[in-house]
Amino acid sequence: GEKAVRGKLPFTPIAAVDAAEDAFTVPQGYEWRAIIRWGDPLFHDSPAFDPENPDPEAQERQFGYNNDYLDILVEKNGKKALLCCNHEYTNRNIMFPPSRSAAEEEQVLKATMAAHGFAVVELERNRKGAQWRYIKGAPRNRRITASTPFELTGPAAGSDFVKTAADPEGTTVLGTIGNCAGGTTPWGTILSGEENFNGYFKADPSARGSARYGLNNRPSNYGWEAIEPRFDATSEAYRNEPNRFGYIVEIDPSDPTSTPRKHTAMGRFKHEGANVRVDEDGTVVAYMGDDERFDYLYKFVSSRKFMKGGSAKARRNNLQLLTEGDLYVARFSGSQRPDNDNLGRGVWLPLVVDGESRVPQMSVEEVLVFTREAADKLRPTPMDRPEDVEPSPHSGKVYVACTNNTNRGVGQNPGTDAANPRVNNKEGHIIEITERGNRAGATSFDWNILIVCGDESTEGTYFAGWDGPVAPISSPDNLAFDSEGNLWISTDGQPGTIGKADALHRVPLTGAERGHLTQFLAVPNQAETCGPVIHDQDGSVFVAVQHPGEDGSWDDQQSYFPDYVPAGAKPRRGEWRGPRPSVVQVTRKR
Ligand code: FEO
Ligand code: CA
Ligand code: CA
Ligand code: CA
Repeated sequence: GEKAVRGKLPFTPIAAVDAAEDAFTVPQGYEWRAIIRWGDPLFHDSPAFDPENPDPEAQERQFGYNNDYLDILVEKNGKKALLCCNHEYTNRNIMFPPSRSAAEEEQVLKATMAAHGFAVVELERNRKGAQWRYIKGAPRNRRITASTPFELTGPAAGSDFVKTAADPEGTTVLGTIGNCAGGTTPWGTILSGEENFNGYFKADPSARGSARYGLNNRPSNYGWEAIEPRFDATSEAYRNEPNRFGYIVEIDPSDPTSTPRKHTAMGRFKHEGANVRVDEDGTVVAYMGDDERFDYLYKFVSSRKFMKGGSAKARRNNLQLLTEGDLYVARFSGSQRPDNDNLGRGVWLPLVVDGESRVPQMSVEEVLVFTREAADKLRPTPMDRPEDVEPSPHSGKVYVACTNNTNRGVGQNPGTDAANPRVNNKEGHIIEITERGNRAGATSFDWNILIVCGDESTEGTYFAGWDGPVAPISSPDNLAFDSEGNLWISTDGQPGTIGKADALHRVPLTGAERGHLTQFLAVPNQAETCGPVIHDQDGSVFVAVQHPGEDGSWDDQQSYFPDYVPAGAKPRRGEWRGPRPSVVQVTRKR
């Protein structure tokens, strides 16, 4: 096996785990525990978890489903923290029993709406380095759902493209959906990307944007149009409802009464997430991926500067940073070379600058609501599904997880280019970008490929020049950094490509070990590793385990994570026999 990894979080790498294993696997000497699970009660009046009887009011007061983005914001004394987490989507097939009546089905549909959105949950512990427990009924606990009012901000707020019968002003949207990855800002808010919003609507295929955003007039994936007319966008009244989703949302977890916002200035597409870098001079940029085959990489540059400190003035300023600014899309150039190093240059092509559209024949509002259509005109580089795009807080370099693209170079689709070097790219790759002069607001950059993923059977793998043994990896998705500057990579799709359970990997970015990828954990059957949060100085790693047992059914569950109730045993209080998406903390055994 692999030698022990040294550093603040020393561990002996685990071997890749077979895909069908329904276990949460950690390195020797470590243990895991679910901090919070789908259905756990958040408030004093929250009903107990009971999936046998779907209840929307109960679900609104409980932890939601399919946790994806995660952060654990530790407070000054180290004994309290805020857990902030997305609830991307629902797996109705395994969550609730089949309905026996229309009334029951209505309850199920409403419960799935309530299981979406976001959660803020207070945590506590007795001492630093210990495991966290969540506090039921804590004052900052909050659930945001597919029904919570959001304020639209920025140039497209109030435009004709976002008005509906229920919101003739075009400024207030109910709910957030498809919230995938995200980022925590230096001013203490959480950003979350509305990704696969198209699956929630029945839409007019001839409406502007329908084709480019994957909207069609088939019944939606979630069936909510049966209970809320706004999800049927074939009607004149709600023709614009889909234009009100696909944004970066900003949530202030410190204030449970704050109105969450959707920022039109950051464009509308299948936002994976957004991660902010603040330059030395206060320039604020956000990097963003549009997670679709052959879609693009974007950068937002705020027109305001970041203000340090906790004054009311600084807070007011910082909460406006994402409401106004310039929007760019990336074009990579360079030539393919086997060593993958210093491959080329790139430019940030302007879509909106100083409040004006740079796209021929499109207004600012059009650019921000139909951003894909606008970007297409500038001929950016079609990418292999950019998921997390994260600037390193240590170096300022930006890492882009291109998860996979099995259509690359197939049929009429675009062929390879230097930044997307493989046809039928099943395993994905990671790009490393250095902004010109290492300035966040630069309009050009240098780049190289950090990792071309795969296992020993995959053609063309590359690990930043490292030629020793590495963990097999496929479908990189969420990225995080530890306090020493190492990159951590979680995966979504290893079972289907390399036959291994999805994983969390670590890779140094500098020094002699650059590119030496090792595996830290593996998630249970059919689950995706989301979130990762690395508190290496505190001896902890956190992940959000998403969609465990997703291919099962109510009567044929295929994961028992995290309660693992023994067959035939009666579940203990608060436990369940079926799978529950959960936030897990991994710590050293004491
Ligand atoms: Fe929800 Fe792009 O992953
Ligand atoms: Ca993702
Ligand atoms: Ca991330
Ligand atoms: Ca993914």
